[in-house]
Amino acid sequence: MGLLQRSCLLTLILFNGLALGRLAGIPTVPFTASSDEFYSVTALKSIVVDTAFAEYRDESGETLIPPSLQDFAQVFTFDLNTTLGIDARLTNADEAPSDSVFLTLGDPSKYTDVSGAQTSEGYTLSVSSSGIVISGASPLGAWWGTRTLVQQAILLNGSLPFGEAVDAPGWGIRGMMLDAARHYYPPEFIIELCSYMSFFKQNTFQLHLSDNLYNNVNIYSRERSLDLYARFRLWSDAEEVAGLNKYKNESYTREQFEEIQFACGARGVTIIPEIEAPGHALVIVQWNPDLGLSTDLSLLNISHPDTIPTMKTIWSTFFDWFHSKTVHIGADEYTADANEYNRFVNEMAAFIAETANKSTRIWGTFPPKPEYDNISTNVSIQHWEFFEDNPLFDYILNNYSVLNSDDTFYTVNKWSGSYPQTVPIARTFNGNPADSGIWQPFVFDTKNSSNNPPRSSALVLGSVVPLWNDYGANASVYSEAYWAWRDGIPALADKQWGGDLAGTEFGAVFAALHPYVPGQNLDRAVASRGDVVFRYTANRTAPAACSGALQLTDASPNGYHASTSCAATPDGTLSVGPSCALRTPLSSKGRNYTLSLTLRVDSLGPDPGSPTTLISGGDSSLVLLAPDLNIALLASGNVYALNATVPLGQWVELGVVGRGDRTFARVREVEGEGEEEEEFLAVLGINGASFVWAPVAVEAPIAQVGGEASSWTGELAALALSAEA
Ligand SMILES: *[C@@H]1O[C@H](CO)[C@@H](O)[C@H](O)[C@H]1NC(C)=O
Ligand SMILES: *[C@@H]1O[C@H](CO)[C@@H](O)[C@H](O)[C@H]1NC(C)=O
Ligand SMILES: *[C@@H]1O[C@H](CO)[C@@H](O)[C@H](O)[C@H]1NC(C)=O
Ligand SMILES: *[C@@H]1O[C@H](CO)[C@@H](O)[C@H](O)[C@H]1NC(C)=O
Ligand SMILES: *[C@@H]1O[C@H](CO)[C@@H](O)[C@H](O)[C@H]1NC(C)=O
Ligand SMILES: *[C@@H]1O[C@H](CO)[C@@H](O)[C@H](O)[C@H]1NC(C)=O
Ligand SMILES: *[C@@H]1O[C@H](CO)[C@@H](O)[C@H](O)[C@H]1NC(C)=O
Ligand SMILES: *[C@@H]1O[C@H](CO)[C@@H](O)[C@H](O)[C@H]1NC(C)=O
Ligand SMILES: *[C@@H]1O[C@H](CO)[C@@H](O)[C@H](O)[C@H]1NC(C)=O
Ligand SMILES: *[C@@H]1O[C@H](CO)[C@@H](O)[C@H](O)[C@H]1NC(C)=O
Ligand SMILES: *[C@@H]1O[C@H](CO)[C@@H](O)[C@H](O)[C@H]1NC(C)=O
Ligand SMILES: *[C@@H]1O[C@H](CO)[C@@H](O)[C@H](O)[C@H]1NC(C)=O
Repeated sequence: MGLLQRSCLLTLILFNGLALGRLAGIPTVPFTASSDEFYSVTALKSIVVDTAFAEYRDESGETLIPPSLQDFAQVFTFDLNTTLGIDARLTNADEAPSDSVFLTLGDPSKYTDVSGAQTSEGYTLSVSSSGIVISGASPLGAWWGTRTLVQQAILLNGSLPFGEAVDAPGWGIRGMMLDAARHYYPPEFIIELCSYMSFFKQNTFQLHLSDNLYNNVNIYSRERSLDLYARFRLWSDAEEVAGLNKYKNESYTREQFEEIQFACGARGVTIIPEIEAPGHALVIVQWNPDLGLSTDLSLLNISHPDTIPTMKTIWSTFFDWFHSKTVHIGADEYTADANEYNRFVNEMAAFIAETANKSTRIWGTFPPKPEYDNISTNVSIQHWEFFEDNPLFDYILNNYSVLNSDDTFYTVNKWSGSYPQTVPIARTFNGNPADSGIWQPFVFDTKNSSNNPPRSSALVLGSVVPLWNDYGANASVYSEAYWAWRDGIPALADKQWGGDLAGTEFGAVFAALHPYVPGQNLDRAVASRGDVVFRYTANRTAPAACSGALQLTDASPNGYHASTSCAATPDGTLSVGPSCALRTPLSSKGRNYTLSLTLRVDSLGPDPGSPTTLISGGDSSLVLLAPDLNIALLASGNVYALNATVPLGQWVELGVVGRGDRTFARVREVEGEGEEEEEFLAVLGINGASFVWAPVAVEAPIAQVGGEASSWTGELAALALSAEA
């Protein structure tokens, strides 16, 4: 890959930044230049880990599975190669050879957070004529230093200014929360999100693992409540929790949860698991109906003698799964007895401390009051709304630690009566009420400074920003959670660290960095020279190298040749069916795209009641639904169907269009009149009271035609993908 072209605006931002003593990255980096010279990263020959510290692991962070310096160096080596094409060897030595990135550890006491307390996440990055040295307060600190190096190499076209950055985060908890309860997300998606977060130095990903749709007690019968969408996402074969989770295909097994935690941990991101009770606990009541409050089955009846023991059993089943020092027991929006609630939290927290040696976090719900036996101050509070608590007066002034999740930055997938669908990033630039300047984690209230503690308060743990799936799983496909956060993660991450990138700088810096974020392709981008990504027409003259199958030559300049085991017909079309496949070297394409198939469907899949697959990919399948052959997209466990149908035995051109956050399809007879596009829509049930129709952005399925039990039988004359919509 060549190094990058910069816009004039970006060049101005970068050089103004340097003059101000900071590098314009995400987050920004304090920097002292030592001369006006630059070191070119293309000169780098090796990445060298200081032998003395290669296997050192730091125990002071939130994770119980801290990578060693050597582990982080390996991921960094991979990143340098994939982002900048720098193929540097990874070795060990006692001191820095010339033209290397030398990774070492240094005096941890010189790195402090906003409260003046020591942080193990600091680092020093030094650039000189002999190369680059990154010295971390811990391996994690050094890892954040490598993020600075990769970002600046991207932004500065490989030329790093001579000088020194001494950098440390202002707050220890920086990250996001995903509602993986009211929508399932596969492990690979979560891991890609961790890679994305990590590039901007976020270190925490809270997974909300159990919840239910809003239990509308005013209109739901007991039967309907007990049937409402409610999920518990961990899958254990343990006898004690048999029946709690009925949906294995939308769950995390222990092996998968390990994979998530280790893969995220490898990039410095700790998973904080949340199992929600005694509110939002319908899934537990569906399992054991005696434990629900008769007045609202989504709330546990804490007075019931089996309630607390049941929650202890659930937690005991999963303690060994979790590799964080803190776990989250939910405790959100409980609307019944406050004293019982406080007893519940204290008993659970004591149990979790004694049994698993872990700390407990809850959502702020019943703040301390004279009439209560209050929650113990060693339980940390995640504040989200001032109608629940005042984080300063109720908690911080009473010595509780508080994590800032104020709903200033809440998003709800697809639709909400109160919250936006993408992070309102403008407020990261102007959300501090004291001066309309940058927001940072100590700002709970963006309107009234009197509700905010001093920036240096040690009891502000940091910030975690949630995305909720209030209207359930069918509202969205997996990637729409990413699109809700795509700009929000970097905008928030800068401020969570303590950075000060301005609104006027953010767009250009983010646009320059985004295409290179390592370890993920959440955009589902497909490299292409020109708008045509691939175009195949059947071709019997070109045998593929290995399999004896046909190769279909890609008529675009991209060389995405497909292979097929299907026979070509004398007409030059391909005879498609369940027993043979056409396979492209690709899987999925995100917005924008037009996928076109010229095909004649002669018969459906073997099970006429279930969908017949036309083409499938990593994120979706295009299918026909019985009995009328309606066109539909299957994606993320959901079905999005159109009125439009495909007639049997007739040649048609079928087009699927991904245009921004919307998806359409059109069918027309070959050389026939153009049919109107019809839009794929998600139908959201709003609290059992009404419906909302919302757009949905489904990735194009581009991996395979035929070869599946559910495949159609017929002929394919052409298959093409364009990046235009
Ligand atoms: C970026 O660097 C490459 C090689 O290091 C050079 O050829 C190119 O001109 C540079 N581009 C800009 C915009 O500075
Ligand atoms: C860098 O990437 C190239 C191409 O994928 C690969 O051949 C090479 O082994 C990689 N080098 C390192 C150090 O990972
Ligand atoms: C809660 O459980 C207790 C003990 O089993 C029972 O007496 C009480 O009626 C229950 N309350 C509600 C509101 O369900
Ligand atoms: C928190 O304090 C309670 C008593 O107030 C104690 O039972 C529990 O073990 C403590 N937890 C931790 C993590 O120290
Ligand atoms: C409990 O966890 C803390 C870190 O959170 C650790 O320092 C301590 O050694 C652990 N105690 C036991 C008995 O494992
Ligand atoms: C609970 O906290 C309130 C407010 O700080 C305090 O007035 C009250 O005494 C506390 N209750 C107990 C039992 O300590
Ligand atoms: C909070 O803790 C500090 C230091 O541990 C102590 O001096 C102060 O009295 C405590 N305040 C309250 C309200 O408990
Ligand atoms: C600002 O917050 C303070 C402290 O909670 C409160 O006393 C005051 O009334 C608030 N001001 C406004 C305008 O809401
Ligand atoms: C068919 O394959 C031959 C041999 O590889 C190639 O020259 C020709 O361009 C291909 N035709 C089409 C339409 O792809
Ligand atoms: C899990 O299985 C159910 C029942 O077969 C199905 O409706 C759902 O789409 C599946 N979920 C996923 C993510 O494939
Ligand atoms: C699809 O069919 C439904 C039910 O007949 C109708 O209400 C709707 O308007 C149709 N949509 C389109 C785009 O034709
Ligand atoms: C996709 O198309 C929409 C609508 O035409 C446009 O706003 C958007 O910028 C395009 N996105 C990409 C990634 O090209």
